Amino acid sequence: MSSEDMKKRILSGIQPSGSFTLGNYIGAIRNWAALQDQFDCLYMVADLHALTVRQVPAQLRAHTCEAVSMLLAAGIDPKQSILFVQSHVPAHTQLNWILCCNCQFGELSRMTQFKDKSLSHPDNVNGGLFTYPALMAADILVYNADLVPVGQDQTQHLELARTVANRFNNLYSPTFHLPEGYITKEGAKIMSLADPSKKMSKSDPNVNSFVLMNDDKDTIIRKFKRAVTDSEGTVRYDVENKAGISNLMSIYHVFTGKDMSEIENEFSGRGYADFKAAVGEVVSDALAPIQGEYTKYMNDKAYLNEVLKDGAEKASRIADRMVSKVYKKVGLYQM
Ligand code: TRP
Repeated sequence: MSSEDMKKRILSGIQPSGSFTLGNYIGAIRNWAALQDQFDCLYMVADLHALTVRQVPAQLRAHTCEAVSMLLAAGIDPKQSILFVQSHVPAHTQLNWILCCNCQFGELSRMTQFKDKSLSHPDNVNGGLFTYPALMAADILVYNADLVPVGQDQTQHLELARTVANRFNNLYSPTFHLPEGYITKEGAKIMSLADPSKKMSKSDPNVNSFVLMNDDKDTIIRKFKRAVTDSEGTVRYDVENKAGISNLMSIYHVFTGKDMSEIENEFSGRGYADFKAAVGEVVSDALAPIQGEYTKYMNDKAYLNEVLKDGAEKASRIADRMVSKVYKKVGLYQM
């Protein structure tokens, strides 16, 4: 086997929810790009998962192109990794059914995301929302992914994927690798600028609480200027007592590479206004080239389609083989 064959396989997905936030970038996408050399990576835009909440069709289509463009702009290299849209690879939904039949009602009922979303969308608690983790398990298991970079909010779903994989292996015969989470150390979780006890989220009604990847420089500077801090007036890393400043320091660290003590020294004796301005500057400087690339991809649908067609073909080649194997094992008649 060449070393190429021995690389561990990574799969991750992101829903096409419109423009990504700085939190999505720091917590997920940026790391995806960094993992490409070391691992055999598959990255997908989870458009089927997005259907578990009501979507405007034209918007979902647009958001899917936007998501793919942003992934490319953020450095996902389609020559190195397999970049695709979930619905373009039918094997996901094929395996989903088999896994649904091997997932218990009780297990799915215990998923905290299901419980949360049922409460926030009481008018649309649909079957897809309930079986969402089985589709996510299919996404992962259909490629026998070894590692799955996910945020804290998805670890319960990943645990369920392991449970189902293990159950299937015991019932039939060894088929699936048991996937493991891949949690990146620093900067994994970026908090809201308005309430640093909450995760930065685009669904927050306060637009000043998040920075979007496509925000222009003035907007970015303004949002950081308004970021909630504390009354101490010292730039010091202390997540418990100074969550706002610590969050800004994490962001500054990501884009400058400076560690926390260096940042503390740099801003010692200077006020928060100076520090916030500096954070706004480094973020807007870092995002400018990504925004440029993004626009380039958004204006080249022919290229996007080419990338996606190639990605879907490569992904299907792996995934179809797994589906045939699984269909056979569970006793579906093959001609
Ligand atoms: N459910 C994930 C989220 O909302 C997205 C996702 C779908 C995913 N399928 C996946 C992530 C498979 C990791 C692996 O964030």
